[in-house]
Amino acid sequence: MRKPIIAGNWKMNKTIGEACELVTDLKGMVADVTDVDIVVGPVFTVLSSVAEIIKDTNIGLAAQDMYWEESGAFTGEISPVMLKNVGCDYVIIGHSERRAYFGETNETVNNKVKAAHAHGLKPIMCVGEKLEDRESGITEKVVKDHVVNGLDGLTEKQMLNTVIAYEPVWAIGTGKTATPDQAQEVHKFIRGLLADMFSSEVAEAVRIQYGGSVKPNNVSDLMAQPDIDGGLIGGASLDAESFTQIVKFK
Ligand code: PGA
Repeated sequence: MRKPIIAGNWKMNKTIGEACELVTDLKGMVADVTDVDIVVGPVFTVLSSVAEIIKDTNIGLAAQDMYWEESGAFTGEISPVMLKNVGCDYVIIGHSERRAYFGETNETVNNKVKAAHAHGLKPIMCVGEKLEDRESGITEKVVKDHVVNGLDGLTEKQMLNTVIAYEPVWAIGTGKTATPDQAQEVHKFIRGLLADMFSSEVAEAVRIQYGGSVKPNNVSDLMAQPDIDGGLIGGASLDAESFTQIVKFK
């Protein structure tokens, strides 16, 4: 059985004080959870403070992006070595906002996914179609393109330490969740791709999160689907109470 993984993508929110308050509250509220992997994804400037607060707890730490080089003349970027050094376990790669606003491509996503593994970080690789893709019937084509190219060149072991987040772009921050059936259909499709690319054992073991307007009131129906193994939570992860309710979806 795959252990569910619920991750908060805080996006560009929270100053140091706000982040510390949120994660301190959260730490107490989820302390009794052992059957779900819990991850928070704050902005770079608060990673260090949050890492200190969640040390030796059941909460893991994710960054929201990184560059693939270790160091050097790349003004404004941050490296996998630095994320590891500050205490990150995971790194979100290829979020649709990065693809849409910051020129992220399958090629840069693949470089980052490989660099994350090279430095012992587990990538949470985001994939998903835009509204116009869904309306013109090319959802599977787009998702396949993201999955196959983003994961190109990974070993089976690296794949087992990779999380995929399926996030239909039309459902992100819009309040329009994909129905559990719509999400399940794509999750199953992704698992089939993993079986083709790696093996059926690997495909069965990899965790695939759903993301896009996941809230306390819809999480259980999504999680009840056989191929949905967790959630990547934006808006609802900014509040300790609602994120806790999502983590405790059972
Ligand atoms: P949302 O964001 O939960 O606010 O829709 C999800 C995401 O973008 O990861």
